[in-house]
Amino acid sequence: MKEKMLKYLCCPECSSNIELARHKGIDSTNHITEGELVCTGCKNTYPIISGVPFFCLNTDDKTVDLNRKNFASEWNYFTSSMGDKNEQLAKDELESYFSPFVQFKDLEDKSVLEGGCGGGRLVYAAAKYSGAKEIIGVDLSNAVITAFKNTRHLPNVSIIQADITNLPFKKDKMFDFIYSVGVLHHMPNPYLGFSSLVEHLKKDGKILAWVYGKEGNSLYINFADPIRKLITSRFPFKVNLYLSCFISLIVWGIILGFYSPLNLILKEKNTNKVLPFNEYFNYFRKRGFKDFWRTVFDKMVPTISYYISHEEFKTWFEKSNLEYETYFRNGHSWTGIGKSAVGLSRDSDLQQHGFKTTYK
Ligand SMILES: C[S@@+](CC[C@H](N)C(=O)[O-])C[C@H]1O[C@@H](n2cnc3c(N)ncnc32)[C@H](O)[C@@H]1O
Ligand SMILES: [Zn+2]
Repeated sequence: MKEKMLKYLCCPECSSNIELARHKGIDSTNHITEGELVCTGCKNTYPIISGVPFFCLNTDDKTVDLNRKNFASEWNYFTSSMGDKNEQLAKDELESYFSPFVQFKDLEDKSVLEGGCGGGRLVYAAAKYSGAKEIIGVDLSNAVITAFKNTRHLPNVSIIQADITNLPFKKDKMFDFIYSVGVLHHMPNPYLGFSSLVEHLKKDGKILAWVYGKEGNSLYINFADPIRKLITSRFPFKVNLYLSCFISLIVWGIILGFYSPLNLILKEKNTNKVLPFNEYFNYFRKRGFKDFWRTVFDKMVPTISYYISHEEFKTWFEKSNLEYETYFRNGHSWTGIGKSAVGLSRDSDLQQHGFKTTYK
């Protein structure tokens, strides 16, 4: 943790200022690697562990606790380092979320927050390719330690362990751009997660969210997802690692042996109409087996996964008084971007205030 972060942080319990109580020195990259923060109001203490301040060590909710442990195992294993291949994959993936609405250069000199950064792969890509002034990655799991290792050399990145619904940021620490991909649908109340992030947007700031769609996933929701909920989310890490590898190998064989030739013969546009998950599989065919394996693992381990309909997704933006657009990604998920219009009340007519809402 960089010492300069202190001026942006506050106690998540009582919102008072935070001070550095003790630390064991500052390393060559200007980070305090071990130490303790203390709240000047309620006197709660928050440890700095392996370079990361921890604001939410315990949760009473067993489902949430297992969820974060399972995600930690995913990111600690699959993003243990950012080699060239992981870097390229992360950059391409982040671009694919952003591209319907924003480009990396739009983040130049901006203050950016990633809600739910896992092992930091997307923070890494955003920090390296966007020219953002600063990017803060927040996650509830101890994958933040991996995220810190992956990004500590980047001067514009900070990593924090906290709950999105109770962020330790002062009211004057507002962000120009907040993004959260693959996170909100894994929270007990996805809309609460979304609206908590919106609270930290500057006026005219933008929030981009990507969630699993209800549309395009009915096969998966009806047949595979109950197995995740009842069985695989409770398996130990190693069992899920090998099982996901086995399943991925079988599906990869089907993608290469069946989907690929049909795409060649019929052309992708036509194949999309007849083969389920065709767009999705084509996306992964280009990214390679390991990323597909990680995604299969990612589908098997969460204790909480919601599939959000377009109607519901739109209400998140409407209830938060955002001017917004949505985009149906890879035939099975929703990306949306909203612009903050602080000052409008929930019941106001957005059109009357000159904000146009568009739907895709
Ligand atoms: C599928 S991962 C996505 C990680 C990252 N966005 C990426 O794509 O690499 C979901 C992440 O959300 C985090 N998460 C879930 N609930 C959270 C919460 N309440 N606050 C912060 N992070 C949370 C999990 O710990 C996990 O790392
Ligand atoms: Zn406090």
